[in-house]
Amino acid sequence: MTEKLSASRSEVMLHIGKTVEDINNEYLKPVETNWQASELLPLTSDKTFIADLKTIQDQAQNLSYDFLAVLVADTITEEALPTYETWLAGIQGIDQYENNGWMKWLRGWSAEENRHGDALNRYLYLSGRIDMRNFEASTQYLIADGFDNGAASDPYKNFVYTSFQEMATNVSHRRVATIAKQEGNNILSKLCGLIAADEARHAKAYKTFVTKIFEIDANEMMLAFETMMRNKILMPSQCLRQLGEETGIFSNFSDAAQRIGVYTSYDYIDIMKTLIDDWKIDSMSNLKESGEKARDYIMALPDRMTRIADRIKIPETEYKFNWILA
Ligand SMILES: [Fe+2]
Ligand SMILES: [Fe+2]
Repeated sequence: MTEKLSASRSEVMLHIGKTVEDINNEYLKPVETNWQASELLPLTSDKTFIADLKTIQDQAQNLSYDFLAVLVADTITEEALPTYETWLAGIQGIDQYENNGWMKWLRGWSAEENRHGDALNRYLYLSGRIDMRNFEASTQYLIADGFDNGAASDPYKNFVYTSFQEMATNVSHRRVATIAKQEGNNILSKLCGLIAADEARHAKAYKTFVTKIFEIDANEMMLAFETMMRNKILMPSQCLRQLGEETGIFSNFSDAAQRIGVYTSYDYIDIMKTLIDDWKIDSMSNLKESGEKARDYIMALPDRMTRIADRIKIPETEYKFNWILA
């Protein structure tokens, strides 16, 4: 359901839109210097391709079942980029028919993100351990099924969502890179490390948008932050499913990620704490009574969620996904 948003949000977006190009220049890299998948993975035209392929496949032999499941789900999440781009293009104040700073940001961000799915997909193909048809079908489902991030067309809520989400993907890709390195898989480690660095840059940009909104519309921004935290940040892979199945498998993927420590409930709480620190929520004054209540709710949330996380038991049994070859 689309909420009625105040006209002031449009004014705020227009105002910040004037400085978005500076943010773009700071947090997006020129295409000419961006890394591409072709530099990180062997090309069939390389004279050494057969030997390089053997190296990739040998290194992939050490990767655990849970690890592969997480890697596939991370890849599918990246490949569902069309969902996120269309969602964000519908935000109030981002007009895709105008060549404004906001649209430049959105296009530049999408263009950088598009490399993530490309690179990971190619790695999975080369690894020889993945049932590619099942993996591709899950990607197609995720895009076709769509996803509701709970922020409707509200720029304030959406930028909370994207700030959180970019930090979460930074954590998970970084951890995957670390585990891959421990397993002697330098190729995958480098690739995921570079993706993680992109996510960190993107998170900084989205967090800057929110900081700027707080400077001019603190009370409304606080209420939007509270709403998103109250409703919880849903992962884009929430609707993940396998070929021919109606029931989602997100919780199985999430359990695997928790078991190998790639993304846990404590990471969710840490991200929340970082956002609270970065946006200086604790010392935010110029608020109305509603904003003060929202601030107090947010400040108490990390401790509350830690107590809940302490009680959660993660199932120990690995779930058998159809994405991974026996
Ligand atoms: Fe990404
Ligand atoms: Fe991202």
